[in-house]
Amino acid sequence: MTDAIRIEPIREDHVEGFRDALDIVARERKYLIFLEAPTIEAMLAFVRGNIAGGHPHMVAVADGKVVGWCDIRRGSRDAEAHCGTLGMGIIPGYRDRGLGRRLITAVLDAARAAGLHRVELNAHADNFRAIALYERVGFEHEGIARHAVRIDGHYIDSVKMALLFE
Ligand SMILES: CC(C)(COP(=O)(O)OP(=O)(O)OC[C@H]1O[C@@H](n2cnc3c(N)ncnc32)[C@H](O)[C@@H]1OP(=O)(O)O)[C@@H](O)C(=O)NCCC(=O)NCCS
Repeated sequence: MTDAIRIEPIREDHVEGFRDALDIVARERKYLIFLEAPTIEAMLAFVRGNIAGGHPHMVAVADGKVVGWCDIRRGSRDAEAHCGTLGMGIIPGYRDRGLGRRLITAVLDAARAAGLHRVELNAHADNFRAIALYERVGFEHEGIARHAVRIDGHYIDSVKMALLFE
């Protein structure tokens, strides 16, 4: 079913759609530390930086619409340049049918090819679906940052996970 959904390296003409998708997921107020998308200018700068810097960043496109994204931002300091931080999301209606697995696999392949050694991420501790996906593709649990997130007055623990390319 997801065969019709293409996974593509992000381009500048995806930015508006990427922002729309991020905004939808952010406004659910359940999964991300964004509660709304940054400005289009900020998103454009982020995407341009990813393209110019070779940071892996893919989007899932269905009928010309961005329905998901996954990016890994490489550490900017010399001693952390082998590390990257992963973020991802899929809009409602496209979840639970293997798209997350396709997206993250494509981005991790690109990260490995780019020479990254470690990929890390944070997930809200109640985001069982995301945590299950990350475990499936090889991430290990490294710890819990207690009450690291607060949304609508509720504290949420943040699970820290990482994967090493050996
Ligand atoms: C998290 C997210 C990226 C996962 O993508 P998805 O397309 O819905 O998930 P998939 O269909 O690829 O499933 C991934 C795997 O997790 C498993 N899984 C899904 N939900 C699960 C659950 N509640 N418990 C255990 N396993 C689960 C699936 O069975 C699948 O494993 P498999 O490939 O071995 O069968 C997507 O649901 C999403 O964007 N959610 C909202 C935003 C979000 O949470 N972003 C991540 C923030 S850290």
